Amino acid sequence: MQTDSSFTFVLFGGTGDLSMRKILPALFEAHRAGGMLAASGKIVAVARHVSDRAGYLEWVNEHVKPHVSKNGVDEAAWASFLQRIEFAKIDLGNPEDFVLLRDAIKDLPGIRVFYLATGPSLFVPICHALASVGLNENARIVLEKPLGYDLKSSNAINDAVGEIFAEEQIYRIDHYLGKEPVQNLLALRFGNALFEPLWRREWVESIQITIAEELGVEARGDFYDNTGALRDMVQNHLLQLLSIVAMEPPHSMDSDSVRDEKLRVLRALKPIDPDEIGKVAVRGQYHAGVIRGTSVPAYATEPGVKPDSTTETFVALKVEIENWRWAGVPFFLRTGKRLADRVAEIVVNFRAVPHSALGASALRAGANRLVIRLQPNETIRLYCLAKQPGEGMNLASVHLDLAFDRFFREGQMEAYQRLLLDVINGRLALFVRRDEQEAAWRWVEPILNEWAASHKPPKPYAAGTWGPAAASAMLAQHGTCWLEEEN
Ligand code: BG6
Repeated sequence: MQTDSSFTFVLFGGTGDLSMRKILPALFEAHRAGGMLAASGKIVAVARHVSDRAGYLEWVNEHVKPHVSKNGVDEAAWASFLQRIEFAKIDLGNPEDFVLLRDAIKDLPGIRVFYLATGPSLFVPICHALASVGLNENARIVLEKPLGYDLKSSNAINDAVGEIFAEEQIYRIDHYLGKEPVQNLLALRFGNALFEPLWRREWVESIQITIAEELGVEARGDFYDNTGALRDMVQNHLLQLLSIVAMEPPHSMDSDSVRDEKLRVLRALKPIDPDEIGKVAVRGQYHAGVIRGTSVPAYATEPGVKPDSTTETFVALKVEIENWRWAGVPFFLRTGKRLADRVAEIVVNFRAVPHSALGASALRAGANRLVIRLQPNETIRLYCLAKQPGEGMNLASVHLDLAFDRFFREGQMEAYQRLLLDVINGRLALFVRRDEQEAAWRWVEPILNEWAASHKPPKPYAAGTWGPAAASAMLAQHGTCWLEEEN
């Protein structure tokens, strides 16, 4: 991917965790790969706790370098990457600092990208400050999640940012949309005629989407305790994956065609009936347990978490989509921290044959199934039945495998790298449009409200398991189970 689009990439929150782990390593990878970033492109890091460029580069060497290039750092590339980095010390309370920022970048060529890797409470003040010195022109603004706490607060941010930047200047990041296998899902669905006729209620019995993590809340206890899994993972990543799985074929891959189709799915989600919530939503919180032989503490004893916290670290939901393609097909969504494994996958369970001349195993649900493994070990696997060799007609499950690293040995790109290049090159398709975000909040909010009103604690689960038993019971009511329960 060659580019000559020059840019000035201004990174607010330049010494934050995200800059350290994701943003700067992704920019380095793009730089190292050669030809992806215009040679004249500059990165201007903004931070408060560092005094000058030399101090910032020291910080980058110490904190960012360990996160780049798993296979060792290319020192020459690293040295030339550092030359792209400038530094601006900005105190948000001091308007003069933005005048200095403007003067510092005014002669730099190309599009300006303002990346707000800060808490959402700073989004609006930063946008106002940028506008006060005219920096909102010829610019793109990137907003990190969480974008608000609920529909109201997210609308307040979007309204305020929207007064300063037009919607086509606003890039709302959901890093799941940048993951290679998620892109591949689009290729699988819309590049192959094979699956499309089957991708509907007549042939699909149920769909599962899981994002399971082994990690706990790490150093983010304080943030997480005010957020919870529904806001942290469902409102954005899981609903975005769902909309990609369920969307109609777009007219083209341009940004609005794709986003229009995703929006239709989000708007067709069957609203949650508060009286039914116990049947369609499970929330859990981890207790102490063992993960891969190591004891881990209970959520309520993690630093920054209130000892009597009722924040959920696990959510499982049954979702329905009210349209012709999907009416009546349950979509089971699940995410949690401190689960038994780190895995993100989509499981499409096809219906069994209507009549089996080959014995009962052909009538078994899930005999035909597509498993799209997003991470780790990205693969797409199509399960079918085949005759076991030898006497008689005994069927066994076999699968066809598309393991990406076998077919494509090079060119894999981290989500952030792809998304940052898209911002610099003005491609909006993989960013969340305001109306999508609103539709997702609108659907999620009744669950949040109901949980808050019920005063019931989340169901406990031991760290290192697959969550509360109620999550399995919810699927059992539909005659199915989570994929790992079959094995
Ligand atoms: C983030 C959440 O958006 O996604 C984190 O805030 C979560 O809580 C992370 O750990 C998971 O992302 P990934 O790419 O590691 O699956």
